[in-house]
Amino acid sequence: MKEEKLLKLLESLSWTEKVGQLVQLSGEFFNTSALTVGPQQKLGISDNMLKHVGSVLNVAGAANTKEIQQQYLEKSSHKIPLLFMADIIYGYRTVFPIPLGLGATWNPDLVKEAYTVIGKEAQSGGAHVTFAPMVDLVRDARWGRCLESTGEDSFLNSAFASAMVSGLQQDLDKQEGIASCVKHFAAYGAAEGGREYNTVDMSERKLRQDYLPSYKAAVDAGCKLVMTSFNTYDGVPVTGNQFILKDILRDEWGFDGVIISDYAAVRELIDHGIAEDNKEAAYLAINATNDIDMKSPCYANELEPLLNEGRIDGKLIDQAVLRVLKLKNDLGLFEDPFRRATEEKEKETLLKEEHRALAKKVTAESIVLLKNEHGLLPLDPQTDKKILLVGPYGDNQELIGLWAVHGKTTDTISIKTGIESYLKPENFHVEKGCDMLESYEFLGEFGATKDMIDSLSMSDEEKAMHLDHALREARSADIIIFAMGEHTMQSGEAGSRTDICLPQIQRAFMKQLIELGKKTILISISGRPLVLTEEAETIDAIMQVWFPGTEGGHAIADVLFGKTNPSGRLSMSFPYSVGQLPLYYSEFKTGRPLTSSTHSGRFVSKYLDSPNAPLFPFGYGLNYSSVQYSDLTLSDTTMSDELLINVTIKNSSSIDCLETVQLYIQDVVGSVVRPVKELKQFKKLSIAGNTTATVQFILTRDELKYYTHSMDYDVETGSFIVFVGPNSEETLEASFQLV
Ligand code: NOJ
Repeated sequence: MKEEKLLKLLESLSWTEKVGQLVQLSGEFFNTSALTVGPQQKLGISDNMLKHVGSVLNVAGAANTKEIQQQYLEKSSHKIPLLFMADIIYGYRTVFPIPLGLGATWNPDLVKEAYTVIGKEAQSGGAHVTFAPMVDLVRDARWGRCLESTGEDSFLNSAFASAMVSGLQQDLDKQEGIASCVKHFAAYGAAEGGREYNTVDMSERKLRQDYLPSYKAAVDAGCKLVMTSFNTYDGVPVTGNQFILKDILRDEWGFDGVIISDYAAVRELIDHGIAEDNKEAAYLAINATNDIDMKSPCYANELEPLLNEGRIDGKLIDQAVLRVLKLKNDLGLFEDPFRRATEEKEKETLLKEEHRALAKKVTAESIVLLKNEHGLLPLDPQTDKKILLVGPYGDNQELIGLWAVHGKTTDTISIKTGIESYLKPENFHVEKGCDMLESYEFLGEFGATKDMIDSLSMSDEEKAMHLDHALREARSADIIIFAMGEHTMQSGEAGSRTDICLPQIQRAFMKQLIELGKKTILISISGRPLVLTEEAETIDAIMQVWFPGTEGGHAIADVLFGKTNPSGRLSMSFPYSVGQLPLYYSEFKTGRPLTSSTHSGRFVSKYLDSPNAPLFPFGYGLNYSSVQYSDLTLSDTTMSDELLINVTIKNSSSIDCLETVQLYIQDVVGSVVRPVKELKQFKKLSIAGNTTATVQFILTRDELKYYTHSMDYDVETGSFIVFVGPNSEETLEASFQLV
């Protein structure tokens, strides 16, 4: 539809119809042949408003969306189609690893391919918008939503944000792919104490330097929507925060797409205590240029009264409605309200062989080898050694994590199935060994009934029997593989925890088997960095596999048996102890640094009972090759516009590898304190066995800019240190002067 026609359409709408476009309700409001009454009464929305509601939350499937759209349009006087928005975070039916695993690939191009597939599958299932990517910077592993983020570094996150948006929106105009809604704007990852829905308070400098770049990258990549975050910024919840939404997002960045509140976040302005009632909440949110109110009665019931009382200008509503109509138009909904989604197309598209193959490739690159004592891995598939797989994740398809709501665990390849394809049956045995958790009571909060909880828990007899079987098999095994990890419900939204070790019951079980003195391997499954300090001391090899997705078992087995040389690198530090959190490599220099302070002993910046350093640092990951870095050289000792940085990397093993070469800098003296290291570039390249590669980076002046004391985004001349290495800790160093 041409813009002119769109404006005419806008003009022809009554205020109630306009407001309807700014309201989003979930599936239960729409999914019977007659529009339902119960939920809307509960929310306090009138029958009349329900007819005009412009978008639907979390309904997917070609048949479902088609039925709802058809019924809606039949009753609608202006025939403005509904928008279907859903949480399709890291896979629709083909599920990729959780984003923290995607971050560990350090391969934005590959991740873009994954999001193109996600967009295609979601489009075939009738979705128009996905609430993805989530690009919140995460530095506190207690927060369950680390699962949804690509990690702790703003440069790396920005590369992924851009790749994910481009992948999802690829060929949007050809009605392929879906619109991307980046979230949660802004700084939601900095929730105090890692506690979900909690306050964020930080300087504007930190906000701009560390937290905003990934959202900006998504906006620059053309994301069509932005979702507000639940948190406060400088005392004002973002959904009503004009500085964040209007000044930064709209005015500075020129974002003219749709802003949607997070779930009920408009109404929650009351709970935050900055609005007295629904009307004030609506007033604050619309004035902050929030367009759509997700799942709250505030806009539906209060925008018209606010208009009639002359408290808001009709233009404010018109602008918001126009943005929503434009989005519908950009998606081609006026021409085809179903956007070519049919049940046939859906069937053809979901879980295609090539999608599975891509998922396997991505998962393989997401796996991080954390420890490999005496080269225990890879295992020889021809081995005559006896291998025992134990633990609650051994024979288990629950590998897709919390936010893969449209995925099916029944499609998932278990670790057992993956390993079976490598080993002779007589050499391979599987035992559950122990329960996943000591108690499943917490699932009650997620709607599980007492019966469901009881059916999950093992009785004492069952526990004893499983332990007995596992011990018996372990005694005659040569190698024990533990498949251990968090329960799906222990990470993701509302999954904050203060104890982020493996569940106690699993640790106690492992201890008993480790005492047998066999070779041991841990496959660690989690939605966050866990504290693996004890395991790192007692287990020979550790693989971090996240929630690996539909092809998890295959990809894990390929790494175990050396078909894949692991290349994943952590995009978030793994703490030594939970007490270190928040923890990140790019911390500010302190006045009393641990290693170079003139103060001694106690009086430096440190803990008395824990190292400062993480257990496994940002950028870290092993492989099966032997790789050495040498000869870091700079093209000059001074830099004005750019500097060439060369490093030699030798693969002295016969095994080809994918190496992620990381370039960090330190701005030695600034007008404000600068981080000890900042990632500026990285290159993931393949290095054949027994060859040497020279890697060149071109560092430009622009990359040295930061928010100076006067808040200008600019460079300051002076000394810089360059660090190049395989992770943020093991680096070669050189220095130059910026002139
Ligand atoms: C709340 C979550 O914070 C957000 O990430 C999600 O997209 C919405 N609910 C919609 O389900």
